[in-house]
Amino acid sequence: IRAALTDGPLTGRHVIVTSGPTHEPIDPVRYIANRSSGAQGAAIAAALRDLGARVSFVTGPASVPAPQGVDVIAVETAQQMRDAVAAALPADAAVMAAAVADWRVLNGSDQKIKKTGDMPTLQMAENPDILAWISRDARRPRLVVGFAAETQDVTAHATAKRLRKGCDWIVANDVSPATGIMGGSHNTVTLITEAGAEDWPRMDKHAVAARLAARVAEALA
Ligand code: CTP
Ligand code: CA
Repeated sequence: IRAALTDGPLTGRHVIVTSGPTHEPIDPVRYIANRSSGAQGAAIAAALRDLGARVSFVTGPASVPAPQGVDVIAVETAQQMRDAVAAALPADAAVMAAAVADWRVLNGSDQKIKKTGDMPTLQMAENPDILAWISRDARRPRLVVGFAAETQDVTAHATAKRLRKGCDWIVANDVSPATGIMGGSHNTVTLITEAGAEDWPRMDKHAVAARLAARVAEALA
């Protein structure tokens, strides 16, 4: 187990990282999810830890293990993730890498839904937007970083998303199926800040994480 550094650039700082997908239950055995593996979020948490930060790692049901040396808060749904993030405040920075389900099922069932020949109809409600909420909350961390998974016009959509959400930075990536990014080991990201868009070269997710963690440290210095 690697313990947090005692003298890294983020020593004494608290960073919240959200990661993984969320699962939105339909009934006790079924749920709605997405293709996030949680690999990028886990790598970011580990990179922040390596710079000395205390990391609250709020994770949905990911397919990669949580890093050692971070405080793991495991959740399932978007609403649970929002509550866990609220409970982890205050923080110096928040990095919202989770692929939060946009909708939850309103007419879920306590019992397994049986096959009757009639197709079930799911009623959906929009989930709380954790990034937009934390960006405008009174306890807003000094630095709030969001992600944007887009399949077209990445920079334009992500720039609009940054303003809409009220966060400081957006890490945008192209997740169109041809890129193989969802579930893959590499990422090609564009960092959107107040100053504009920076295209980063294609890197493995650990390198993306290290570069982002270094930028977080710089911003909080
Ligand atoms: N996010 C969040 N809570 C939600 C939805 C998204 O905190 N309910 C965060 C994600 O963790 C990510 C950012 O918002 O950091 C952008 O997520 P994305 O799905 O790209 O944006 P949406 O606003 O949901 O827009 P859309 O899916 O329609 O592109
Ligand atoms: Ca979304």
